[in-house]
Amino acid sequence: MVPCNKYAILFLQAAVMVAVLCAVPSHGKIDGQISSSLNLAGSFDTVFAFGDSDTDNGNCRLIGGFRNFVGGWLNTLKGAMALQSGGGFGGSVGGAVSAPGGSAAGGSDGGSKQVTVSGNGLINGKLIIEHLCDALGIPSIQPYQNHAANFSSGANFAVAGSTTLPGSFFLHNNLLSLMWKTVPETFDTQLQWFNNFIQNFKNKGAGGKGGKPNMDNTLFWLGGVGKSDFARIHRVSASSEWLTQQAIDHITKFIQGIVSQGAKYIVVQGLPPVGCLPLDLATSSVTERDQNGCAARINNAVMRHNELLQQTIGSLQKSFPKCVFVYADIWKAYMQVLSGYHQYGFTEPFKACCGIRDGSQYNFNLKDLCGTLGTTVCSEANKHMVWDGIHFTAAMHTVIFKLFTEGGCTHPTFEQLLKIKSAAQKVDQSVGA
Ligand SMILES: *[C@@H]1O[C@H](CO)[C@@H](O)[C@H](O)[C@H]1NC(C)=O
Repeated sequence: MVPCNKYAILFLQAAVMVAVLCAVPSHGKIDGQISSSLNLAGSFDTVFAFGDSDTDNGNCRLIGGFRNFVGGWLNTLKGAMALQSGGGFGGSVGGAVSAPGGSAAGGSDGGSKQVTVSGNGLINGKLIIEHLCDALGIPSIQPYQNHAANFSSGANFAVAGSTTLPGSFFLHNNLLSLMWKTVPETFDTQLQWFNNFIQNFKNKGAGGKGGKPNMDNTLFWLGGVGKSDFARIHRVSASSEWLTQQAIDHITKFIQGIVSQGAKYIVVQGLPPVGCLPLDLATSSVTERDQNGCAARINNAVMRHNELLQQTIGSLQKSFPKCVFVYADIWKAYMQVLSGYHQYGFTEPFKACCGIRDGSQYNFNLKDLCGTLGTTVCSEANKHMVWDGIHFTAAMHTVIFKLFTEGGCTHPTFEQLLKIKSAAQKVDQSVGA
């Protein structure tokens, strides 16, 4: 009944399983309730962002973590490769990876090739968070570590590499305790930075006026968090639930932390199907594929993570009824694109744009990652969904942002969020708040 085509199957499944499919913005409408041209301008004047490499627009680089980030990354991948060729490794090494603090791998591998990076070094253009600022009509928020920046429109506290040491690294190096030490540290750091920022604001104010940011007009954006928390769980299925729960607990504490500082409007992004990225495809066994052709084990773990995250957001919403929590379903957005990627202008769903041209299926080789000698960048990056085998292209960030804001891939939708916000403000005004 179903043609033997993975996208057709995927599409059918998505249609059956997902109550409201995301609309395709370029085609206007799918669902009558979904606005195809939501005007966000002026709806929030301040944005505070947190997260990892998909949200970081400079912190990691500014604090000098980038060398360690890349160095640790290469070392880790080499370790994974060695293990894989040794036959005992069939799992995944996760999404973006790093050595927090540089302590785990340190980038001291004399044999690694030179890696050159620019900007945040991890993507070929604007991030979701930068599109958000554009849409709101505010200057793009600057990384908190840029001490010369103008923070009048908010700040970005995200750090590439947060909580993203790959499981293979820890499992095979018996560093499980270090792994868990890094998680609260990195997220504590972002919360600490934010608390310092608020304190400083109270003392001086953005324009020397004193006071505090107006939380009624501030949007908090928690980018994907814990991308590799579950990457750590391959081959330890007995504890995968526990590990996922740990990640969710950290996120919960984090959210409670920002709420205690007055956060009201909070977008929490789920995790994308990282099992569809070349990194995970290349490092997992071809026998472990799901119906989309992606690494099944890691995607199952991501699904579980997202499910728990949504439950958590539901309980937070009950605990803090004056806040509005929005779940940004990047999994759904990604699947929506994959199921009809041509409609979004993509021709390459799985092949990396930047990497080694060795004729391989994914343009991806752990030994020759984007930026190493001999790697090249494709001529039409906009046709690729994947940038370097580990991160999405800027074109994907653009599409995902549209699916979030106009395509109904958030719950509640942005349109509903704006309605709730203006209703709350009317109530505040009538009570004279
Ligand atoms: C910071 O940016 C805001 C908005 O763009 C502007 O009004 C303000 O003058 C800037 N502050 C400084 C110190 O440049």
